[in-house]
Amino acid sequence: MPHPSLTTAARRILLTNLRQGVAPWNGKPYSFVCPSLRSYPFQWFWDSCFHAIALLHLDTVQARAELTTLLSAAQPDGLIPHLVFWEMEKQPQFLRRNLVGQTSPHFSSTIQPPIIAYAVERVCQATGDEAFKQAALPPLMAYYRWLRRVRDPDADGLIAILQPEESGVDCSPKYDDLLGLEELTNSGFIAALKKVYADYAPLRPSGEGLRSDDRAILALDRFHVEDVMVNSIYAQGLRALARLLGDAPESAEFSAQAVKTRDALLNKCWDEESGAFFDLAGVAERPVKVVTISSLMPLVLEDLPQPVVRRLVEQWVTAPEHFWTPYPLPSVPASDPKFLPGDPRGFIWRGPTWINTNWFLSRALRQRGYLELANTIVARSQELVSKSGFREYYHPYTGEGLGARDFGWSTLVLDM
Ligand code: GLC
Repeated sequence: MPHPSLTTAARRILLTNLRQGVAPWNGKPYSFVCPSLRSYPFQWFWDSCFHAIALLHLDTVQARAELTTLLSAAQPDGLIPHLVFWEMEKQPQFLRRNLVGQTSPHFSSTIQPPIIAYAVERVCQATGDEAFKQAALPPLMAYYRWLRRVRDPDADGLIAILQPEESGVDCSPKYDDLLGLEELTNSGFIAALKKVYADYAPLRPSGEGLRSDDRAILALDRFHVEDVMVNSIYAQGLRALARLLGDAPESAEFSAQAVKTRDALLNKCWDEESGAFFDLAGVAERPVKVVTISSLMPLVLEDLPQPVVRRLVEQWVTAPEHFWTPYPLPSVPASDPKFLPGDPRGFIWRGPTWINTNWFLSRALRQRGYLELANTIVARSQELVSKSGFREYYHPYTGEGLGARDFGWSTLVLDM
């Protein structure tokens, strides 16, 4: 159980960051928690799913509203956007400071790790709300089918991302070579990202609101990554969707898809020699042999073979030279020459510890029987929040809070 003061502090953040109203551009009501009022004032896809899960411990009505709002942004073809600009008046200032890919114009028509079915399942379990579930199922099925149809062009079970921010771990060093980073800073990253978008620009149809064809973009093979973390979360989401569907005939379709994705992770991304999972770059599927937090993420799949689980845990998670820092688990192992534990100045996901990945992995380790490890990760995560507040990420040695303040998904400690 988290300390009562953590619950009070989390409630304050989730209430302060709550945005409610009716969007003039589509006439729809919205009610969601933004990741940070100052840095991230809109609705982000996976943040929103994390907020809903944390809200289950505080306010189940708002947890449901959060996901209903996200689902209401689903597009006719099935896509649920990465970022929805509900409050358009804040967009110009945001876009002056941030590069957003494929803006269309009220949302960013890219993806983020597809955890939504799992979040819906958690809300259904907590509330028993059948009407919510029945309303959620059609857009969820359309979304996971869209991912398969559009994002898995070689039909191997692994979906591909077309720009680094789609994985949620934007500047991870695993993308450096593929992006051709010339300078290891945030401005170097933005410069490289701009080149990717420039190469996509000719494929963009002209006319407000028209979206590019993701299949054509992937066929360009400019930034085509079958990402381990995205696919682990995809398989987890597919399984949740299959469970939500229960006896319905579609259930088998999504469980079969989950098995296919898990098998592809094992057959194509697992590297026996290194003892880690690696992303596949390009249509040619070159393994990207860089270990990051993402290499551990298949642990969220309950039927990963035991020898693989043991290897990940013994070789990486519990090794002080890699991920077992005083405040585990850093986004990049300490052994990596590019490991940046302190203030990254926007060049994120290259060292600090994040609460969302600790949430995924502590739950996974607990389910795999590593209770002590899971308890330690939970205790250290709570300690981070108690001593440094709900920050975006933390120094893995000192626990210093870094990045945005009053950051929404760090309230996931309530669910750990
Ligand atoms: C950063 C993170 C991304 C997150 C977003 C909003 O871009 O890398 O994962 O969704 O901020 O919090």
